[in-house]
Amino acid sequence: TSDRAYTVAVLPGDGIGPEVTREAVAAVDAAGAAHGFHVRWSTHDFGGVAIDRHGPPLPDATLAACRAADAVLLGAVGGPRWVGGAETPETGLLAIRKALGLFANLRPARVDDPALSPLKAGIAAGADVLVVRELTGGLYFGDKVEGDEEASDLCRYSRGEVERIAHVAFKAARDRRGRVTSVDKANVLATSRLWRRVVTAVAADYPDVALDHMYVDAAAMALVTGPTRFDVILTENLFGDILSDALSVLPGSIGLLGSASLGDGGPGMFEPIHGSAPDIAGEDRASPAGAIEAAAMMLDQLGETRAAGALRQAVAEAIAGGVRTPDLGGTARCSAFGAAVRGRIDAAA
Ligand code: NAI
Ligand code: MG
Repeated sequence: TSDRAYTVAVLPGDGIGPEVTREAVAAVDAAGAAHGFHVRWSTHDFGGVAIDRHGPPLPDATLAACRAADAVLLGAVGGPRWVGGAETPETGLLAIRKALGLFANLRPARVDDPALSPLKAGIAAGADVLVVRELTGGLYFGDKVEGDEEASDLCRYSRGEVERIAHVAFKAARDRRGRVTSVDKANVLATSRLWRRVVTAVAADYPDVALDHMYVDAAAMALVTGPTRFDVILTENLFGDILSDALSVLPGSIGLLGSASLGDGGPGMFEPIHGSAPDIAGEDRASPAGAIEAAAMMLDQLGETRAAGALRQAVAEAIAGGVRTPDLGGTARCSAFGAAVRGRIDAAA
């Protein structure tokens, strides 16, 4: 009775990547059984594991499978073994973002239980923020001069690059609480002044969305002193990298959060925000919640919004019900948390 079918390329990667993606895949299968769709999964080498087996971190066959898929589900890559090598897992990440044209990175963070947050409950309660980060421009992709006495990284943005990410943020705000805060450093940087002008112009297409602007240093402070003032934060590549890591501490563990990287119509890439966590890899103690949230974002993107909601609800219920991995102070294994989530999806169906 599976009327709808999707092809998903899974890149488990390194460290805890395979452990958490296994649970995310199983959770999606359970949601598919309950909501009438089927996912055809294929698994491919990417990152350190690909370097070991093939040489490059992004083998041609892996990229071809990703291009042909409806979506890509990624675990995490990297680890001490590959640091300083000629090929690194991280260059594979930049390469796949560029190859798939994934210019928009969406990272939501919501505080469900303020008691789990390291912030005072009165500050964290109710926080629900989406960071929309530009992912293929700015300093990370600008011309570099690498030297021992002097080095430089070029930051550049074009109007078109700012326009397309701004549209992503305004559209997302429409489905949320209708507010975009654009974060820049327009008092110092030329790229930021262009950013501010272009975002202000795009805002005219969205009269139903409120726009304000903030400098990045002020935004960093506000994220930890008053995160409830934010709905959607729109920002460039480097600022988004830093602010989204600051944001990730709000809910109480880096293991809880997922992210989506989207392009123009092609397959999106969905991953937990954490890395390969070499310190706990292979111990079945990582939280798969962030990988499951990434899978929920994937289902939203594929149009399976009810199944996405079911995944999120099952995760929230499991945590509220005391099924907690060690990062949240519990003793549940990664595999046990995954089983608890599936059990709640089956029970709700
Ligand atoms: P990390 O996110 O892997 O780990 C940071 C801390 O959080 C560790 O103590 C780890 O045990 C804990 N942690 C992470 N995920 C967890 C989970 N799901 N459940 C419970 N605890 C969790 O960051 P780190 O240690 O800086 O980087 C390790 C490797 O991962 C590096 O090689 C780094 O380059 C790579 N990395 C890869 C990313 C990706 O694939 N997108 C993103 C960030 C880092
Ligand atoms: Mg980062």
